[in-house]
Amino acid sequence: MKNITKIQLGQNGPFVSKLGLGCMRMSSIWGGATPDETESIATIHEALDRGINFLNTGDFYGAGHNEMLVGKAIKGRRDDAFISVKFGAIFHNGQPIGMDLRPIAIKNFINYSLTRLGIETIDLYQPSRMDNSVPVEDIIGTVVDLIQEGKVRTIGVSEITADQLRKANDIHPISALEIGYSLADRQIESELLPTAKELGIGIVAFATTAEGLLTGELKAPLADNDYRNHFSRFQGKNLLENLEKVDVLTQVASNKGYTPTQVAIAWVNEQGDHIMPLVSMSRRSRLPENTAAMTIEFTPEEMNTLNTTFAMGAILGGTYLQR
Ligand SMILES: NC(=O)c1ccc[n+]([C@@H]2O[C@H](COP(=O)([O-])OP(=O)(O)OC[C@H]3O[C@@H](n4cnc5c(N)ncnc54)[C@H](OP(=O)(O)O)[C@@H]3O)[C@@H](O)[C@H]2O)c1
Repeated sequence: MKNITKIQLGQNGPFVSKLGLGCMRMSSIWGGATPDETESIATIHEALDRGINFLNTGDFYGAGHNEMLVGKAIKGRRDDAFISVKFGAIFHNGQPIGMDLRPIAIKNFINYSLTRLGIETIDLYQPSRMDNSVPVEDIIGTVVDLIQEGKVRTIGVSEITADQLRKANDIHPISALEIGYSLADRQIESELLPTAKELGIGIVAFATTAEGLLTGELKAPLADNDYRNHFSRFQGKNLLENLEKVDVLTQVASNKGYTPTQVAIAWVNEQGDHIMPLVSMSRRSRLPENTAAMTIEFTPEEMNTLNTTFAMGAILGGTYLQR
């Protein structure tokens, strides 16, 4: 079954599925147990069968575990998959402790990623953040060297400023910007999104459910051991007020016969032909629901309700996405 449309990443870049599969939560990221690997691999296979070929991983997801998992899943199916890898974030005991984007480090990272993934070329290779101690020229220039070596096909970036994006794109055409974007997090609309559009760069939008806030499944207060308790968005009065806005989303969704998650994904999808919702799914049961979200259309009234309720800044408190 292939009912997913395509999106071109960058002006002369590759065509990939307009819905991306985020693989991050198939590994233990911030500590804790590793999700069921058999189910994770089955989810990747079913996504590929459905025409979702954009798979997103990072060399620091589960200290290499995520790349090995993706590598296992695409064994024998390399041509069905488009592999996007982030690099440069340094983790210790499940906690981010910095960035390393020195050219010698990047040239070291890539070989480990290729081995773990069991492939010869990474389709989209991207620094996960910028490293202020290394000039953008050196970071992007190093990835250009990797293209010339045949180890990388196209360059992406993630969570950077509009100025950095222009600088990077001046050095080499950037295919994609991976960035947090949802009804709950719209800050990029003021500068970054217009800049990417002007430069013809594709948007890979992650956290479309805003860490689960927009699924309609959250109840206040969160369990004591929930990692989201660290973020002010999920605390006390903020959470109660935020959930009132989610109730509006739930109402819009139920009037249309969909779930809040589907409408949250569909809203991101609707923001442009060059914008891909990148959604975490660790089990096959998520795929029918989230794939169906890509066919949702909105009336002007529905759009107006969502855009008014979730105007920029309407969701109180922050997450790890500090901009
Ligand atoms: N560049 C960056 O800085 C950065 C940062 C974070 C993430 N990412 C990438 O973006 C991807 C997505 O980000 P994310 O995981 O933060 O956000 P997300 O896609 O909004 O996923 C958050 C949660 O939503 C759940 N979910 C998915 N479909 C659902 C449904 N239909 N109903 C209810 N819940 C549903 C997922 O659960 P299950 O896993 O249980 O299916 C997941 O735990 C990641 O996998 C990763 O590849 C990039």
